[in-house]
Amino acid sequence: MAFNFYGPLLLLGLLLSCTATLPVSVSYQRPPPRDTLTIPLSQNSDGLTPQQVHVSLVGENKMRITWITENEAPSRVDYGTSSRKYTSSSTGSASSYSFMLYTSGHIHDVTIGPLNPSTVYYYRDLGQTGWTNSTLQHLGASGYDVLLLPGDLSYADLDQPLWDSYGMLVEPFASSRPWMVTQGNHEIEQLPPMEPNPFKSYNARWRMPYDVSASDSNLFYSFDVAGGAVHVLMLGSYTDYDSSSAQFKWLMADLAKVDRKKTPWLLALIHAPWYNSNKAHQGEGEDMRKSMESLLYDHMVDVVFAGHVHAYERFTRVYDNSGDGCAPVHITIGDGGNREGLAKKFLDPQPVISVFREASFGHGEFLVVNDTHAHWSWHRNDDDEQVLADQVWLTSLVSETTCKN
Ligand SMILES: *[C@@H]1O[C@H](CO)[C@@H](O)[C@H](O)[C@H]1NC(C)=O
Ligand SMILES: *[C@@H]1O[C@H](CO)[C@@H](O)[C@H](O)[C@H]1NC(C)=O
Ligand SMILES: [Fe+2]
Repeated sequence: MAFNFYGPLLLLGLLLSCTATLPVSVSYQRPPPRDTLTIPLSQNSDGLTPQQVHVSLVGENKMRITWITENEAPSRVDYGTSSRKYTSSSTGSASSYSFMLYTSGHIHDVTIGPLNPSTVYYYRDLGQTGWTNSTLQHLGASGYDVLLLPGDLSYADLDQPLWDSYGMLVEPFASSRPWMVTQGNHEIEQLPPMEPNPFKSYNARWRMPYDVSASDSNLFYSFDVAGGAVHVLMLGSYTDYDSSSAQFKWLMADLAKVDRKKTPWLLALIHAPWYNSNKAHQGEGEDMRKSMESLLYDHMVDVVFAGHVHAYERFTRVYDNSGDGCAPVHITIGDGGNREGLAKKFLDPQPVISVFREASFGHGEFLVVNDTHAHWSWHRNDDDEQVLADQVWLTSLVSETTCKN
């Protein structure tokens, strides 16, 4: 949606059943625990009604609408700026995948646009009654502009119908704001010799806008928000990242293209944190850190967000394990809530580079105010209420005269 003014980006570490929350402007019914949540794929008699709708950004002014139908149905979306008059339409494609004995529904992908900024769009699929309208409320509306999710997603862990449950669960939110995701270890779902390829379900269901000319993988990509003022790198913690890897080469080329005069903010998302003083998952991000940290440092990445550890932790600006005023801030926001519970044990004493840490469920909001200032806040979920528990103003590294190279 050609984001041409600044707005909030919402970060959910691990969005799943028990404690995920969204901004106060959205009323959210806490769902039951995962293992009792079984929403069947088809709940409609015709098998044509779209389910599990989610939207994602594609380039500067387009959106991808993804949904699933039980039976074959047209991959067509009508859209417009009024709910009764759909003035445009787009067609796309559908595919399905099999995983062991499971066969997915028809997964439809349709890209709509070009869309105007600061405009509410309504969309519907062709000829269906069950799905009359949904709003794509973006800029100018309350709430957040884009949700960033550094994995894990469904925790299906091979049990494919849980991907459908997850799709149903997040649909009320994922169908009205773009969700940009990167994958966690629970999305790998590799089961050789029958299922030798990792991320089969993830790739089929959560297609992200990787640039096919620059990368052949859905597991790492980048995109712009706020009219190009923010560039977000979505990195894959579970695909090769060594210096000879496709991901590394893509990252080098992608960073080289960023014009920091036009793009003051550079963010990166990974799954396994590079800095972590929680006892859980110690050292798991270390190989990737050793491979890629200097690249992000040299290109003055402002913030690196991670998931995986089920707790919240904010570090100071840090490079190669030491505080460095020109290095990224590292934030672990792996506390969206999942069945495994919280990671409550931290290393003692707290390392000097660790500014704030707490094992509670919550979510974070990164509000980009202008070229130089952004506000980060972390909201703890306390008895269903969200409570502001940590916040900090960040200045963009390119505006720090001492950091310019
Ligand atoms: C579209 O959705 C909104 C919000 O749920 C609802 O109020 C409105 O009546 C719907 N419009 C139609 C034509 O169904
Ligand atoms: C950017 O926002 C910060 C925080 O609100 C403010 O102090 C600063 O003056 C703003 N800068 C410009 C150029 O508007
Ligand atoms: Fe994880």
